[in-house]
Amino acid sequence: MFGPSHLGKHKHAFLLVLIAASFLSGLLTSRMISFRKCNAPIEPFQAPVRIRPVTNGLERVTDWSSTDLAIFRTKCGTPVPSEDVKTLVMTKIFDGSSPFLGFPPELAKPYLHEKRIRGWGSTGTVFKRLLEEVKPQIILELGTYLGASAIHMATLAKSMFDHQILILCVDDFRGWPGFRDKFKFHQINGNVQLLYQFMQNVQTMNFTDHILPLPFSTTSAMSALCEWGVYADLIEVDAAHDFHSAWADINLGYSLLRPGGIMFGHDYYTKLDNRGVGRAVDLFAKLKGLRVEPDGQHWILRSK
Ligand SMILES: C[S@@+](CC[C@H](N)C(=O)[O-])C[C@H]1O[C@@H](n2cnc3c(N)ncnc32)[C@H](O)[C@@H]1O
Repeated sequence: MFGPSHLGKHKHAFLLVLIAASFLSGLLTSRMISFRKCNAPIEPFQAPVRIRPVTNGLERVTDWSSTDLAIFRTKCGTPVPSEDVKTLVMTKIFDGSSPFLGFPPELAKPYLHEKRIRGWGSTGTVFKRLLEEVKPQIILELGTYLGASAIHMATLAKSMFDHQILILCVDDFRGWPGFRDKFKFHQINGNVQLLYQFMQNVQTMNFTDHILPLPFSTTSAMSALCEWGVYADLIEVDAAHDFHSAWADINLGYSLLRPGGIMFGHDYYTKLDNRGVGRAVDLFAKLKGLRVEPDGQHWILRSK
């Protein structure tokens, strides 16, 4: 009864039904023809975009004064005496010993230059002027790169003071995306050896007792310093230059300034990042009732 030819006929009929059904379902779900909105205009086909453009890329917060944008911690921990800061920082970050012990590690040695110091406005007259005025014991530097400005301050301090100084260098030591297009750094598994080259520079210049790296983001390092009661007499702000980064750095930095201390930074007039630094400095000064003192490309704010 069900011979091979009969079976073949059923198979063909079944296949035909299957094709017709899938064609119909495709038609029904297609974006071109919709039976729900049969009068709707046909949407033009749009290739998928990876990044959706926002109207102008900027969104305004209406009442920003009550948001975290304007609320910063202004009181930090009980002040640690300046002479104890180094031990405290080494205990908290480097298990109680100097990160320069046994430096450099074998894996970095082949890629390190004995001395490779580069910076931007890192030896301007502002450094000497402010060191003379403040006579700092603790300096906090936000943004260090290869240590040009830190090494310059340490060199000046050595010739100017009898007292010991300590410069805490906060930097994630990652540079910025694409910085290696301009500056050649050997990369090992995503690590560009910036921290090690900075440390090598410090070691070559004999400042391992006076300069310590804090290899973290500026905001996380400053939260910790605030918690621990580590304050500075002089704070140099020279990390990221976009408004929001500079704004956070300036606000958090100011709370770490000792009474009579000075905060200063680079790139006050630069047009980079839509004048992010200049706008952040001006806004901060306005809200705190401070006067901005420009010095070349540098800006200076004195504590009240
Ligand atoms: C302009 S360079 C500092 C130059 C240095 N002050 C000098 O004059 O020699 C900026 C540095 O800030 C660091 N940096 C940028 N944003 C940072 C962030 N949010 N936290 C920590 N470091 C940051 C970069 O890694 C870079 O080394």
